[in-house]
Amino acid sequence: MKRAPRYDVAVLGCGLMGSALARRFASSGLAVTAWNRTPRGAEALAADGVRPSATVGEAVGEAGLVVVCMSDVEAARHALASVPSLVGVTVVNLSDGTRDDAEELARRLGEQGALCLDGATFCYPEQIGEQSALLVFSGSSRAWTEHESTLMLLGGRARHVSEDITGAKALYLGSGAFFLTALTGFVESTACLLRRGHTLEEIRETTLYGLELLGHATQAVASSIASGRHETDQATVHVFADGARKVLAELESAGIDSSVMAAVTGKLDATESAGMGHLGYSAQSLL
Ligand SMILES: NC(=O)c1ccc[n+]([C@@H]2O[C@H](COP(=O)([O-])OP(=O)(O)OC[C@H]3O[C@@H](n4cnc5c(N)ncnc54)[C@H](OP(=O)(O)O)[C@@H]3O)[C@@H](O)[C@H]2O)c1
Repeated sequence: MKRAPRYDVAVLGCGLMGSALARRFASSGLAVTAWNRTPRGAEALAADGVRPSATVGEAVGEAGLVVVCMSDVEAARHALASVPSLVGVTVVNLSDGTRDDAEELARRLGEQGALCLDGATFCYPEQIGEQSALLVFSGSSRAWTEHESTLMLLGGRARHVSEDITGAKALYLGSGAFFLTALTGFVESTACLLRRGHTLEEIRETTLYGLELLGHATQAVASSIASGRHETDQATVHVFADGARKVLAELESAGIDSSVMAAVTGKLDATESAGMGHLGYSAQSLL
């Protein structure tokens, strides 16, 4: 049995996100230690009430809950491999990786005696601790029940999504396809609008309206994909494809790199070519 922990939480990895996690735990009144490969990353947190540990073993040996936030799962696996026993420790991995990475890390940590949760952070470091921040966790329900109140400090919308250790990564990676393409599409759009002389205030107004519209459109598209029914009484693929070609031409004539818009146009073209131009936007999912 591990002796009574001196710290409530150990954070391994004090980059931008790991530091935000450690600071949030500490400002909530928890006893926190932190380790970082480059020592100054952990030392910089001392002013926020986080005690730096010199080694992974020291940090893990003194805490019952270990939150790992490194660049990727491989780094997390490597750092924790040096700890001979993790009996009595719950490890929460918030480092990015694939579903397979999450599974493999949990298997190895389980062999070392740990209870495991894998997680994903759907927010920026500055949002950590806010009511609106979403973090998802998957894996051992026992570990979640034991540490729920601590992990909920990280964001008001933090939740356990699945007993399956890969559940959090599956949700994060699948959602990333939307977030990342939308954000890069926004970069193309904004560069074009600014080049045409529009103001940030104008862009803000149309963006906020666009986000409302997107909220509505995404719900409708999701329902159609789930039901397999792609008929529409609102707007057909033909209409969207015509519009997309004009948007692409506008970006090109403004001299903007338009690779995301070109990909969208290509996908709508392909949907038309497959004979589905009369259906709704969701018909692209049938390609
Ligand atoms: N920042 C965000 O907005 C955000 C949002 C969602 C998810 N995430 C995820 O959170 C994780 C951390 O992101 P971050 O923004 O904090 O990144 P970051 O600022 O680049 O920090 C990376 C951290 O990983 C450590 N690290 C890298 N390779 C290592 C290795 N081989 N062994 C030990 N430690 C290693 C670094 O240590 P050194 O200081 O020694 O280099 C540093 O502490 C990533 O998986 C990221 O995808 C971040």
